[in-house]
Amino acid sequence: MDREWFRGQVVFLTGGTGNLGSCLLYKLAIQLPTAKIFVLVRGSVQRAIEAWEQSIPEQVEEIIATCKIQFFLGDMTQPNLGLSPENISRLQNETTVVMNAAGDIALSRDLAETIPVNCTSHLTLASLLDSFTQLQRFLHISTTYVSSFLPNGVVKEQIYPLYKDPAEELGKILITGKSSYTKQFAAPYALAKHLAENLLLGGNHKFPILILRPCLISPAIEEPYPLYGSDGAIPVHSFLQILLGDSEHWYLKLEQRLPSHAPCNEIPVDLVARTCLAHVAQGTTGVVHASADLYVSRTIGGFLERMRRYAPEGAAEQVKKAGLHHGDVTAPEFYSMIQQFARDWKIECTRSAHLKHVAGPLGLDLGNHDPEIFFKLRIERLAKSILPKLESATVANNKVYPNIS
Ligand SMILES: NC(=O)c1ccc[n+]([C@@H]2O[C@H](COP(=O)([O-])OP(=O)(O)OC[C@H]3O[C@@H](n4cnc5c(N)ncnc54)[C@H](OP(=O)(O)O)[C@@H]3O)[C@@H](O)[C@H]2O)c1
Repeated sequence: MDREWFRGQVVFLTGGTGNLGSCLLYKLAIQLPTAKIFVLVRGSVQRAIEAWEQSIPEQVEEIIATCKIQFFLGDMTQPNLGLSPENISRLQNETTVVMNAAGDIALSRDLAETIPVNCTSHLTLASLLDSFTQLQRFLHISTTYVSSFLPNGVVKEQIYPLYKDPAEELGKILITGKSSYTKQFAAPYALAKHLAENLLLGGNHKFPILILRPCLISPAIEEPYPLYGSDGAIPVHSFLQILLGDSEHWYLKLEQRLPSHAPCNEIPVDLVARTCLAHVAQGTTGVVHASADLYVSRTIGGFLERMRRYAPEGAAEQVKKAGLHHGDVTAPEFYSMIQQFARDWKIECTRSAHLKHVAGPLGLDLGNHDPEIFFKLRIERLAKSILPKLESATVANNKVYPNIS
C-alpha cells in the first residue's frame, strides 16, 4: 500500500483530540510523509495539548516537533464549524484531504441532543468542502451500528435505506426532536449517523466521499503504543464499568444475562486507522467496514470466559462488594439494549480483505502479534484501572451502609 501517496498532502482533521483521531494524527504526523495537518480543536490549543498529554504522553512532543501541526479553533456544531474567515480561506486554498473523526459517542443522548454533532455538523462540513479548491479525498467516520435495524445475517458495505426522504426525516427531527425510527436503532446516536451517511452520499457534492464504519473500537495493538485507548471511548470497557456498578447485575451474572453466542464485534483502534488511511491512499469511495473480521472474531461468551480467566485473583469478590455508578445509563437499561441488539450480524469486510496481506502503517498484516497474549495484557490493564475505583467505592459504601459487605 502506497504510503508515498501521502507525500506533500495537507490534511484537515476533525476529532483529532479523540481516541481514533489521536491515533490518526500520530500516524499522519510520524509515519506518513504528509506536509501539514490542520487540526480542528474546541476551546483552546492548550485544551487540545492537555488532552494529548493524557492520552499520548510519550508521543505528543514528537508529534509537535514535526512542525506539521497547525491548530484551527472551532466547533463542529456552529455555522461554518465556528472557524474564522481567515482560517476558512486558508483551509479552502490548501487542504487536499479531509478526515472527519469528530463525533459524540454517548449512547445516553436523546435524538435532539445527538443530531447536531452526529448529523447536521457533518452536513455543514460537507457544504463548506464544496468550496475547497484542492480537495482530493474526504473520509467520514461512521459506525457499523447504522445498520442496527437489520435482522440477523450478512451486513454488506452499503447503505440500507430506511426512510423515503432522508432530508424530510431530518427536517421533522429538527422541528419535533423525535423520529418514528429511533426504536429500530441501538441508540439515537446510530440513527443520527445513519441519516448523516444518507445525506452525505445523496448530497451531490463535488468531491469523492469515503465512509468508514468501525465496529466497537478496542485498545491499540501497536500505534501510538500497545494498549493505547481511553476507557471512555472503548465501549466494552465502558459497558463493563456500567455493569460492575450495579450490584444486581454484576460480573458473575453477565454470562447468564448476555447472549453468549452473539458476536462481540471489536477492532483495535490502530487497525481502524490503518484501514482508513489505506483506503484514502487507494482513493476508495462509498462504504467500507472495519470490523472484527479484519482482526479476531470472538463471541460475547468467548470474551467473558477469557475475561474471567485473565482477571486478577480476588477481582470478582471485590466487584461484589462495590457499587460503582457510571454516567446516566443504568445496568438494566444497558442489558435491555444489548439483549435486543446483540444480534448475529455478519459484518462483511470484503473491501479491506486484501489489506491483511500488507505490512506497515497502511496494512493489516499483523506479523508476530499474538491476540491471546494481547487480550491477557488488556484485561490486566483494565483491572488496574477499574479495581482502585471499586476499592474506593467499597470504602464509601461501607461508610454509608456499614453492613453492606
Ligand atoms: N469508540 C467507538 O467504539 C466507535 C465505534 C464506531 C465508530 N466510532 C466513531 O469514531 C469517531 C471518533 O470517535 P472516538 O471513539 O474517537 O470518540 P472520542 O474519543 O469521544 O472523540 C470524539 C472527538 O470528537 C470531538 N468533538 C466532539 N464534539 C465536537 C464538536 N462539537 N466540535 C468539534 N469537535 C468535537 C472531540 O473533541 P473534544 O476533545 O473537544 O471533546 C473528540 O476529538 C466518531 O465518529 C464515532 O462515532 C467510534
